[in-house]
Formats: sequence, C-alpha cells, structure tokens
Amino acid sequence: MSSKHLLVGNWKMNLGPKQGSSYARQLRESITALSRTDVWVAPPFASLPIVASELKGSLINVGAQNVHWTESGAFTGETAPSFLTELGATFSLTGHSERRTYFGETSEQVAQRTVAAINAGLTAIACIGETEAERSAGTTEKILETQLNPILSSVAKESVAKLVLAYEPVWAIGTGKVASLDDIRGAHQFIQKVWSAHNLPGTATILYGGSVNPTNFAEILALKEVHGALVGGASIKLDQWMELIRISEATAV
Ligand code: 13P
Repeated sequence: MSSKHLLVGNWKMNLGPKQGSSYARQLRESITALSRTDVWVAPPFASLPIVASELKGSLINVGAQNVHWTESGAFTGETAPSFLTELGATFSLTGHSERRTYFGETSEQVAQRTVAAINAGLTAIACIGETEAERSAGTTEKILETQLNPILSSVAKESVAKLVLAYEPVWAIGTGKVASLDDIRGAHQFIQKVWSAHNLPGTATILYGGSVNPTNFAEILALKEVHGALVGGASIKLDQWMELIRISEATAV
C-alpha cells in the first residue's frame, strides 16, 4: 500500500482530443504540488496520446480505461498493453461495471486483462461491485468474491504491488446515491478478507467509487479501509476535481 491517497479520474466517454488536451493543460497548471495524493487520469483512448503528451513531466499520471489481454492480433476495437506503455500510460482500469454491463465482459476476461496489464508494467485498477438487486438480495459478498477470485488467483504474488482494487457499487455509479460509510467499510473489509484467503502478501489497496463528490469525499476518505477514490462525473469538472484533491491533501494518510 502506498503512503499516499490515490485519486483516479475516469473520464469515461467524455473529453475528446480537443477538450481533453485543454482540460489536461488546465490540470497541469493547477496541480503544482502534491504531498498526500497521487493524481491519475484515464481519458478515453482517442484522447490518450494528446493528454499523455500534455501531462508529460507533470505530477499527474495518465492511464487507460481498458486494455486487451494479448499483445497483437485480430481483436478489432481493442488496445494492447504495449500500445499504452508506448504512449506513456502507467495504468489501466479493468472490469469497470460499464464494461461488464454494456459489453458483456466476464470476470475471467477481466482477470486476463488485469494480468496482461501488470505483465506489461502497468498498474491495473480492477473494478468490482454489486448491482442494486444483488445488494437487496443479500448477495453482495458472494458477488464480490465471484468477481475477485479469478483476478486474485491469476495475479502472481510478486506482482501484487501493481494491483489496485476499486469497489464501485453499480447502483452508486453516476446516480448521486453514495454508499453509506458502513456499506463501504463492510465491503472493503470483506475484500481484504478475500485477499488474505488467497495468501497474497500485504494488504490490498482499495479505492471507493460511486458518486464521489466534494460534499461526501472527506468522510469517505477518512475511513481507514479506504485508500483513495475512483471518480467519474466529478473528475471532468475542474473546480470539483481540484476540490477533491484539496480534500485529499488535507486528510491524513
Ligand atoms: P461517478 O463518480 O460518476 O459516479 O462514476 C464512478 C465511476 O464509475 C468511476 O469509475
């Protein structure tokens, strides 16, 4: 686990190359010193080259929203891990719920993508989370375990420092409904339990994601089980993103 909070902005399918590069320039100019926070952004693929070049030499790391499990081949629409490293990307998300829900990605594929990213030298941020129906049915832990198992059993023990987990309850994503502090604490503790059951060294670095904004972030980040946040909507608005960074800087690690 890092000695800093990790704040990751997932731009999703927003900020194309023109808007993305102008936003990246504003970020670079606004973020001139960080002591308790690592700030990472994941633009859409089309904006990645220009954003990476805009943020080169800045305090902000750039990564992708997804990555394929092989290095080349007939996989229309996909992106190989080495294409990302060539652009200067340092990380990739894997298994975001929007990939699982709208594009049918399975937990096994998510595990393959995660391992390939790590093998290429990227940090993988593997996302897991239950739907509202699954939570209501009392199956949250079962779902989290089912999503985690393929990932935790495929990543080599000596590579786990390159793995970050993001707990994103599907019902809290983009809805304005943030999970309660008890829900977050409980899910993160359960994820640590599954991590230990796999005999992995150390503890998992776990981000929370789902409607994080400047109003709710301080109390979420104050939980000792939470190591940072994966943020959608509030990461593409400069004032809100800067406020999240300010809160992180003001919160003890
Ligand atoms: P919101 O912050 O917009 O709810 O999105 C969360 C998310 O999906 C980040 O990956």
